[in-house]
Amino acid sequence: MNIGRVFVTRRLPQVAFDVLREAGALVTIGQLLDDAPVSRELLLGGTRGADVLLPLLTERVDREVLEANERLRGVANYAVGYNNIDVAAATALGIPVSNTPGVLTETSADLTWALLLAVARRLPQAHNYMVTRRYKLWGPNLFLGEDVSPGGSGRRKVLGIVGFGRIGQAVARRAIGFDMDVLAYDPYARDVIEGSALATWAELPELLERSDFVTLHTLLTDETRHLIDADALARMKRTAFLINAARGPVVDESALVQALREGRIAGAALDVYEHEPEMAPGLAELPNVVLVPHIASASRETRDRMAIMAATGALAHLRGERAPNVVNPEVYESDAWRARVEAAGVR
Ligand code: DGY
Repeated sequence: MNIGRVFVTRRLPQVAFDVLREAGALVTIGQLLDDAPVSRELLLGGTRGADVLLPLLTERVDREVLEANERLRGVANYAVGYNNIDVAAATALGIPVSNTPGVLTETSADLTWALLLAVARRLPQAHNYMVTRRYKLWGPNLFLGEDVSPGGSGRRKVLGIVGFGRIGQAVARRAIGFDMDVLAYDPYARDVIEGSALATWAELPELLERSDFVTLHTLLTDETRHLIDADALARMKRTAFLINAARGPVVDESALVQALREGRIAGAALDVYEHEPEMAPGLAELPNVVLVPHIASASRETRDRMAIMAATGALAHLRGERAPNVVNPEVYESDAWRARVEAAGVR
């Protein structure tokens, strides 16, 4: 039985292909090399030949792509973030867009804490010291870092969480074990914060001024682009650290390099970059950074679960059914969506 064609832009965990093929979908994979991007031509060509597009966050699914195929019945993003997709255009065209929320929450919160601890205690620098065989003698000044828990001073540290969705809340839960005071800012979740035992509401300027660690967990939108700019960085304590495992453009990366260079904040740990995979000039050379390549959700189990979720979304799109995780559910009320589904003869 053939239930339609899915264009998967890049290689995913095998389980995604198993789920799709077992259900009777014909699958085409765009780029088989893990370190080569999907060209624009390939993305457009693959989309033209498919009923459903299953892209990664590395592909820009803009109006041109969405309009490339009037038979397209859905986009199933392999990510929880969907700033790579022009959702407004998809909605106007009657195309549902699904994502992979929930399954990567805990894994992403773990990585946030790994970054926080690594930058506070200078782990990459210490590791590098060992593997370059420079450790000669223990000494009281070797790799002095900062406490995360009350530690030597007994002062409870303040964790500032910007964005209090699933991942922000999972990060807050872990702070209990470190005896931290948690502030949170999220204009879309003020009631959640105020009703939560995990955090105290603070406006962004106050959060920046009081926190020892500021961690970002927002979506990338027009509102959050450069939310952390030179002014925001100037509000932070000179002893504070910034952690970003959300989306790179939430931080003005050049302003961050400047602030780190001038010692206006103590350090930064980044999973994501403004012009990923590029880094702002000077960032990689700084002594007070920890940098990893967008791996917040990168555990085997979580990537498999994301694959199953993306594939399940793609199958729902193929069948003309409501997908479980759709970021534009209003699309299902539109004539444009009904027309696509009817033209495909799947309902
Ligand atoms: C996402 O899902 O948005 C992450 O950035 C990658 O897993």
